[in-house]
Amino acid sequence: MTTATQPPIADAKSPIVIFDTTLRDGEQCPGATMTFEDKLEVAALLDAMGVDIIEAGFPIASEGDFEAVSAIAKATKRATIAGLARAIEGDIARCGEAVRHAVSPRIHTFVSTSPIHLAHQMNKSQEQVLEIISRTVTQARNLVGDVEWSAMDATRTPLDYLCRCVEAAIKAGATTINLPDTVGYAVPAEYEAMFRNVRERVPNADKAVFSVHCHDDLGLAMANSLAGVAGGARQIECTINGLGERAGNAALEEVVMAIKTRPDALHYSSGIDATMLTRASKLVSAVTSFPVQYNKAIVGRNAFAHESGIHQDGMLKNASTYEIMTPESVGVAKTSLVMGKHSGRHAFKEKLKDMGYVLGDNALQDAFTRFKDLADKKKIVYDEDIEALVDDEIGHKNERITLASLAVIAGTTGPQSAEIALDVDGALKTFKAEGNGPVDAIFNAIVTLVPHNAVLDLYQVHAVTRGTDAQAEVSVRLVEGEKQVTARGADPDTLVASARAYIAALNKLMVKRAKLRPDTLAS
Ligand code: KIV
Ligand code: ZN
Repeated sequence: MTTATQPPIADAKSPIVIFDTTLRDGEQCPGATMTFEDKLEVAALLDAMGVDIIEAGFPIASEGDFEAVSAIAKATKRATIAGLARAIEGDIARCGEAVRHAVSPRIHTFVSTSPIHLAHQMNKSQEQVLEIISRTVTQARNLVGDVEWSAMDATRTPLDYLCRCVEAAIKAGATTINLPDTVGYAVPAEYEAMFRNVRERVPNADKAVFSVHCHDDLGLAMANSLAGVAGGARQIECTINGLGERAGNAALEEVVMAIKTRPDALHYSSGIDATMLTRASKLVSAVTSFPVQYNKAIVGRNAFAHESGIHQDGMLKNASTYEIMTPESVGVAKTSLVMGKHSGRHAFKEKLKDMGYVLGDNALQDAFTRFKDLADKKKIVYDEDIEALVDDEIGHKNERITLASLAVIAGTTGPQSAEIALDVDGALKTFKAEGNGPVDAIFNAIVTLVPHNAVLDLYQVHAVTRGTDAQAEVSVRLVEGEKQVTARGADPDTLVASARAYIAALNKLMVKRAKLRPDTLAS
């Protein structure tokens, strides 16, 4: 929960408000659209991990955005839910409507302040923008008690004018002032000085919390965020995996772990449960189908991997030689408990518990059966394999179509074909189709057995673990008119994973359709 007044900077450990904008700025990045269900899942995880404020979307942008923000506002138990609104009466009213059921609602309204934006985008004078700020912040404040105002392109705004805008926003009732580096142009010393100067010069600055929001166009988003905090900001706006417009925003996992790992240099604290960072990273990567760079700080697959002889030698003697934080501290489970075909149901259940999964008896039995199948095919079953398998299993609840069997002919001689058997609403159906490659053949066979008009919008394969026996995780996105679903399927056989992902997407699509026309398989 946020506080309306700025804590004194001299505090031994000043609390930092973590404002996550994965669902808004993150979703704005090309190709990262998330479905309604995905957004709810991400929001629930952000809430569970201790994020103070979740920016759930931009309610005026579309009916879907409005619905998602309202649903997240209703479902979230702890965090403040913010919606974004331009400095336009209709935007603010719609945003207020979307967040009003939240335990703690916030309206985040913004307007550009830089000469470049005023001249080329808004065609407004400085005086006109000042009037807009006073009027729209007042409107927002009449709807909710917690209002954030952002000066878009603050870092290219003359300081005198920026101070006048900030003063007007606070006077009109803004409780948080965000000074974004919208275009990722600032350097750390400059960004720090901007916060110091604004806080010193604006007479009512002590009535608001100051916030940083940095873009990574020059790779400086994280450094600038910390510099802004050194200059007196106490809210950091960030995203999981650093998702966001263009080069992205400062990454939440980096912000949190920098504060946690260097308390001697950074005298701040955050309320985030860092052991959930890896899980959040994987979830966001899966639902957006944006892979995480291998060497990404904190959550990249190489973040805790040691290859060189000297490093391995040091690690064997003492992990602190080359690791400044433990894998466990960010939720990368220890690989000491190696799971394989000799592991029993009890060990499997304990393993799941360690990984944060609590399954009912039936789901546990199903997951265990699939784990045993996997263990028969793979030498080592890594935690990531189990995670993919269980996530897949959980997603299979209430499905109408299941994969019974699949046989594929692939290779150079062609034609490639797939014979698939599906259980559709309890009836076994089989079909053999040809295609332009094995995946095309599989999807053609599925379309024949379950006719539909949905268009395949995305097909992506990730190897969940290493080696040629790695488990493959396939993401499939289907679009049918206004409806869009993304689903995943995992299996050591990429073709089986592809079939599972396509079928899971169809199951999701039917749930969506059922809300409109129950019992229809075809659209
Ligand atoms: O980068 C930016 O300026 C923004 C604002 C809407 C806060 O995302
Ligand atoms: Zn932004």
